Amino acid sequence: MNILVTGGAGFIGSNFLHYEIENHPEDRFVNLDLLTYAGNLDSLASIEGKPNYRFVKGDICDRELLYSLFREEDFDIVVNFAAESHVDRSITDPDIFVRTNVLGTVTLMDASKEFGVKRFHQISTDEIYGDLPLERKDLLFTEDMPYNASSPYSASKASAELFVKAYGRTYGLDISISRCSNNYGPYQHPEKLIPNTIIKALNDEKIPVYGDGLNVRDWLYVEDHVRAVDMMIRNGHSGSICNIGGHNEISNIELVKDLLDCLGKPHSLINFVKDRPGHDRRYAINADKLEREAGWRPLTQVQEGIKRTVSWYLENEDWWKRII
Ligand SMILES: NC(=O)c1ccc[n+]([C@@H]2O[C@H](COP(=O)([O-])OP(=O)(O)OC[C@H]3O[C@@H](n4cnc5c(N)ncnc54)[C@H](O)[C@@H]3O)[C@@H](O)[C@H]2O)c1
Repeated sequence: MNILVTGGAGFIGSNFLHYEIENHPEDRFVNLDLLTYAGNLDSLASIEGKPNYRFVKGDICDRELLYSLFREEDFDIVVNFAAESHVDRSITDPDIFVRTNVLGTVTLMDASKEFGVKRFHQISTDEIYGDLPLERKDLLFTEDMPYNASSPYSASKASAELFVKAYGRTYGLDISISRCSNNYGPYQHPEKLIPNTIIKALNDEKIPVYGDGLNVRDWLYVEDHVRAVDMMIRNGHSGSICNIGGHNEISNIELVKDLLDCLGKPHSLINFVKDRPGHDRRYAINADKLEREAGWRPLTQVQEGIKRTVSWYLENEDWWKRII
């Protein structure tokens, strides 16, 4: 099969490409990435030059480029990771989120239907559900819950999903959507909570924590996410929408303390800062549907995943130093 991966130079896309090239050497992968501040070809150095891998620098909003690439490559599957992904940036500059996350997705689907792609998979997020109250531990996101996005980022991802579903229904495009919780692991940009904490702690700098630090997220090791996407694109049925989550709910403050303990650094580095506007309180995922449909379960416990991630950032200083 010939598979187009967009945003493959980003955090999750690069982990997906590593996983796919190792596990599916019979398939061919084209990585289309604009290389924004978040894209980094260093993350793909070990697969550069593989005969079944091609990198194309380009924008998912560029219709002419897409049509010429789709004509040339005759893709079977498209997996759309490309996005603006940082909530803080969406608050200061929402426009680019609408452009990339909504218009880019629509343009990619136009090319997919024009050139007979057999499956268009949209990488979405649990943030489209909005948040859950901290005190209702019994409540989890399920796929039938309504869209209730809080940030410009999550609003753009929810809008993209509406278009994906509409393209399935109106044009008969074969689509699927995965809604994953917070990912962590190798190759995550230093602006995100876990790498930012590790790097600041290593430099003995103050670590900013929003508000009271009690906001809860469900953390999933990135390899578990890419394995779930692999199962959905290869075995999942058309129109399927599935949550992906780790059953690892942790508050931001607990997580930062765990990271500091792992690095042998004092909790006095923590610096509470003014809360993010519209900050979601709690995310928690029910991923039973994907388990039922594809037999998927997360394999990495958070304690183990955190240790592996800290080791990776310690062993790959060159990678993150070049970015910062
Ligand atoms: N990181 C998470 O915890 C998380 C959780 C759930 C879902 N997601 C979703 O997963 C996907 C990947 O997230 P990530 O954390 O790897 O993001 P990232 O910011 O690390 O990577 C995004 C990639 O997309 C590329 N890109 C941006 N605009 C582009 C454009 N117009 N054309 C082509 N390429 C473009 C960037 O260069 C970058 O390589 C996103 O769709 C995001 O919404 C992320």
